[in-house]
Amino acid sequence: MSNPAKPTILIVDDDSEIRYSLSRVLSSRGYQVIEAPSGELGVATVKKSPPDLVFLDIRMSGMSGIEALQHIRSANPKQMVILMTAFGTAQTAIEAMKYGAFDYIMKPFDPAKVLSLAENALKAYADIRAVGDYKPTINSDDYKEGIVGSSPVMQDVFKVIGQVTASDVTVMVTGESGTGKELVARSIWKHSHRAAKPFIAVNCAAIPDNLIESELFGHEKGSFTGATGQRLGKFELCDGGTIFLDEIGDMALATQTKILRVLQQGDIQRVGGVETIKVDVRIIAATNKDLEEMVKAKTFREDLYYRLNVVRIKMPALCERSEDIPQIVDFCLQNLVKQKKARASKVSPEALAVLVRHRWPGNVRELENAIYRSAVIAQGDTILLKDLPQEIRDTVGAQPAPISAPDVPMVVPATSAPFDAMRTASAEGAALSRARTVAAAMAAAQAPLTVDSALDFLHEELSKGDEPILERIEREMIKRVVTAVEGNILKASEKLGITRATLRKRIDELGLKI
Ligand SMILES: Nc1ncnc2c1ncn2[C@@H]1O[C@H](COP(=O)(O)OP(=O)(O)OP(=O)(O)O)[C@@H](O)[C@H]1O
Ligand SMILES: [Mg+2]
Repeated sequence: MSNPAKPTILIVDDDSEIRYSLSRVLSSRGYQVIEAPSGELGVATVKKSPPDLVFLDIRMSGMSGIEALQHIRSANPKQMVILMTAFGTAQTAIEAMKYGAFDYIMKPFDPAKVLSLAENALKAYADIRAVGDYKPTINSDDYKEGIVGSSPVMQDVFKVIGQVTASDVTVMVTGESGTGKELVARSIWKHSHRAAKPFIAVNCAAIPDNLIESELFGHEKGSFTGATGQRLGKFELCDGGTIFLDEIGDMALATQTKILRVLQQGDIQRVGGVETIKVDVRIIAATNKDLEEMVKAKTFREDLYYRLNVVRIKMPALCERSEDIPQIVDFCLQNLVKQKKARASKVSPEALAVLVRHRWPGNVRELENAIYRSAVIAQGDTILLKDLPQEIRDTVGAQPAPISAPDVPMVVPATSAPFDAMRTASAEGAALSRARTVAAAMAAAQAPLTVDSALDFLHEELSKGDEPILERIEREMIKRVVTAVEGNILKASEKLGITRATLRKRIDELGLKI
């Protein structure tokens, strides 16, 4: 077993001279060093008694370093491994990081670098063990709600949500981008008597002025060029439900007048129509613009402003509720794991402290993205400081974690220290970035892809275009499979799981030049 006062380091290399010199460097710092002359023996040693850190050579006769790394990490997923090689290619570096190495070092060694790498890896190992008995801070009720926060400001928001659910009062949600305005609107709807009827969100900023009226109120056949048939608008489709008018500050004055009519009379007219249609829709509006200023400038109707602004919920920026960050992080991670998008389900106290101190100009959305990126990069089940996006580590500087009690790792004291004072990177942060090899940085930039994350990406990207998604994927897959089997149609059809005849037919239909 390893002794925390004197960490044990295992060196696996078939070259006895390398073992000897590395062992001298590491022992000089007081580490207890053990050696294994082959991949097979290295794996056996780790299985018998896991050391705190392994230095593992990539090129060895018998079992290769990459193979040994896979065995070691499957026997002990938390094992810290630093790979060593004389040949630095991007491919080996990426492979190494993909299979969960902590870092990568090139021979011949610079003793100072070896020691600083070992120190960082041992620190990461200690962090991972410290969060070993981590317990989620949120319960399944919070999960269902989808909106997390126990700060006083968020508690106030929840109270108002509760108060407005019983009636049909119009609610205006304001706040910076990414603060959760739409989430609040959905929460009001879910708790209201309208929950069984639709919730429709309309982003007024994303729809051109000449189309918004038709989008909201529908149109009659022939009412404008391109109106080839009658079409129902969102208000009619949403009858009995709740409509969320996002970015209402971007709505043209003419449309504002029609929204006012819905609020005052409860009816609409389709574009090009004469019939008055009764609708029963609750309106929740949102904006991150200063509507009061717009009213003064006469770009927003004053009467509509008062109609919409019956109850206002102002979403606080994330930096005004930094004590909620641990819970939100936790929530995001649990979601990612549930959706099988990432493997990390915990975050080290040190990384969490940095997340809590960051200013988050993009608010919860930005935090969510950062967690997603870090969880994908993390090599084990825990996000460490080194896994956080560079810009987040850079702006805050790696300060010693204020959360040190290992048994309650997610409890964070609310901090109000001035942010600028935290921008100076500490010596520890500098050492950490020095220790990251070029290889590690490259591998991090090319985060290990999973089939699921690749499919998610494809779905997102292809949804933006007009081309039918299946056709595009089919075309690309046929091209790739046929090329991979060097044009052999029989093999390609087997790989694709269709008959030869179908494949030939599809190649023709898709106009592929194969
Ligand atoms: N309190 C919270 N708990 C958990 N997730 C949250 C919270 N607030 C926001 N989110 C998440 O952050 C993201 C942004 O939220 P949302 O879209 O509601 O923000 P918004 O204020 O409407 O942003 P924008 O102004 O950019 O449209 C969403 O993925 C949402 O699920
Ligand atoms: Mg929004």
